[in-house]
Amino acid sequence: MINRRLHFSAGQFLLAFLFVTLSSIAVYGQDATTSDGVPAAPVEASSGGDAALGEALFKANCASCHKLYKKAVGPALFQVSQKYEREWLYKWIKNSAKLIASGDAQAVAVYNEYGQQNMNSFEQLSNVDIDNILAYTDTEKPAPVVAAAGAEGGAVAGSGDNTMTNNIILGALAIVLLLLVVLLVVVNKTLKRFADANGIQTEFEIEEERTPIWKAFVQNQFLVLVSSIFLLLASAYFAYGALMSVGVDQGYAPLQPIHYSHRIHAGTSQIDCKYCHSSARESKHSGIPSLNVCMNCHKSIGEVAQSTYQEGMEEYGIDYNKEIQKLYAATGWDSDEQKFVGEEKPVRWVRIHNLPDLAYFNHAQHVTAGNIACQTCHGPVEEMEIMYQYSPLTMGWCINCHRETNVDLQGNGYYEQIHKELSEARGGRQLTIADLGGLECGKCHY
Ligand code: HEC
Ligand code: HEC
Ligand code: HEC
Ligand code: HEC
Ligand code: HEC
Ligand code: HEC
Repeated sequence: MINRRLHFSAGQFLLAFLFVTLSSIAVYGQDATTSDGVPAAPVEASSGGDAALGEALFKANCASCHKLYKKAVGPALFQVSQKYEREWLYKWIKNSAKLIASGDAQAVAVYNEYGQQNMNSFEQLSNVDIDNILAYTDTEKPAPVVAAAGAEGGAVAGSGDNTMTNNIILGALAIVLLLLVVLLVVVNKTLKRFADANGIQTEFEIEEERTPIWKAFVQNQFLVLVSSIFLLLASAYFAYGALMSVGVDQGYAPLQPIHYSHRIHAGTSQIDCKYCHSSARESKHSGIPSLNVCMNCHKSIGEVAQSTYQEGMEEYGIDYNKEIQKLYAATGWDSDEQKFVGEEKPVRWVRIHNLPDLAYFNHAQHVTAGNIACQTCHGPVEEMEIMYQYSPLTMGWCINCHRETNVDLQGNGYYEQIHKELSEARGGRQLTIADLGGLECGKCHY
């Protein structure tokens, strides 16, 4: 009786302790993730214009050649209003060519300094518009948001950094669990010593005198029979699964040398697949684009938008801007000087889809002749942050689709006559790819 009561109180004590610590951790966790960091607003050096209106005008008219803090086609424009007279700037921005032609010394000097490139004229802009633009070009570079949130959060981990809070919570949990184990051992020892001292027999000692569970199990023949049948079936099931998936790489998503997001390019930016995989239409292979194709855009896109950047850090743990720097390193592009200077270091993309050599697959046949969308076979590519193999790419997969897909006759006059004759021969029903010979071994095997 006495030992019973002792057991109970120890268990209750532990349960209560566990409950209190866990719930306090949960509360702490919620606190840390909901306190929202407000990004610091850019400091505005007021110069009589509206920076917000100016930003829109700048993006529409000037951003293709100018950046605020970095040289692009034209010079960096940060605080250009302090560099020149306002009247001169009105004239320059409205029509720099006219100003240069008029022999204005300052204009000619600027023109020569930047390699005699021509700036567009903007006669449509009023002086007020230009004041607004110049107010915008006077804005200080905003501090990185993550740092701002960290400073504000104080002792609590930066709220923008979810992985950090998670790690802290996990660490705390581990420590608490460790403490619990130690506590358990200590309590157990103390109780045992206490029991021994009082000459009480503990439950463990009582149990040793009963038949152990495994012995009881072996003695029960029915239980043994049922469990062996179960084990045999289960192992057969898993062995079959393992054998059937030899060489099937569905879901394969290797780490690439540059983190390249189809979600951002094909999804958000809606770049057509064929802009990059241009040979899918005409040839067997789709091919991976050369880095020149990337640089068509990335000469002027050196950094992602602030919101994209934050999403990358928070949801995927990827610093997108660093990834673009890798692209620059690989192509030898110097973004400050805006020209290729360095050595090229080709990027070796890891191949994901790969049929064995014995099989023949042709993209043009499917994309152009068959009129099948890329996504039918490659899945929701525009949502993939990391590319992975969506379809099994087994023979059964190819054959199934050939059995189920009807021949597409729209815009494919070549097949019309054949289709008519074949269809009549088969009692006038719709033709599938299989009827065209899509199941013949020789079509897919060399
Ligand atoms: C087609 C490219 C292009 C566009 C668009 C463009 N600029 Fe320029 N800008 C230049 C170039 C190039 C220079 C360097 C001078 C030169 O070679 O004419 C320059 C020079 C300037 C300068 C003198 C900077 C200095 O530090 O000396 C100012 C100011 C300027 N641009 C303002 C603007 C504004 C404002 C807009 C938009 C309304 C704009 N530019 C649009 C190409 C452009
Ligand atoms: C801006 C260029 C670009 C665009 C647009 C683009 N891709 Fe890609 N694609 C790449 C690059 C680079 C790779 C290699 C890196 C990787 O696997 O993520 C790739 C890889 C792939 C692969 C895997 C190739 C392999 O190794 O097996 C498939 C499949 C693919 N893209 C399909 C598509 C589809 C479908 C679309 C349109 C929805 C598309 N891509 C749009 C650049 C692009
Ligand atoms: C048609 C224009 C275009 C082409 C071509 C293009 N990109 Fe981009 N890329 C963008 C834009 C736009 C963004 C930024 C999106 C944002 O800020 O939200 C971006 C972002 C990125 C990023 C950061 C996000 C990420 O995906 O990790 C990387 C890295 C990148 N591009 C690499 C490449 C590579 C490699 C190629 C060539 C295979 C390429 N890009 C081709 C327009 C392009
Ligand atoms: C009928 C299914 C199917 C369709 C439709 C399809 N693909 Fe593929 N794709 C495959 C198979 C299968 C492979 C593997 C080919 C191999 O290993 O020889 C592949 C491989 C690729 C590769 C890797 C490089 C290569 O050429 O082997 C890229 C990139 C690719 N596809 C892009 C595309 C794009 C872009 C489209 C749309 C224009 C598209 N695919 C449409 C089935 C398809
Ligand atoms: C999503 C459905 C689909 C899948 C999956 C598919 N195919 Fe096809 N396949 C077609 C269609 C549709 C055509 C007919 C194109 C045309 O009109 O010429 C075709 C035609 C072919 C042909 C030419 C047949 C002939 O009679 O000329 C070959 C070869 C072929 N496919 C091989 C493959 C291989 C190999 C795979 C698997 C790796 C595969 N296909 C997967 C739909 C598919
Ligand atoms: C529509 C295209 C297609 C047709 C038709 C086709 N095969 Fe295949 N076959 C494939 C593909 C793709 C693979 C590779 C699949 C893989 O690696 O799992 C393959 C693999 C094989 C393999 C290797 C087995 C393995 O799992 O690696 C054999 C053997 C084979 N096929 C025999 C045949 C015979 C015999 C026929 C005619 C009755 C035939 N195939 C018709 C596409 C086809």
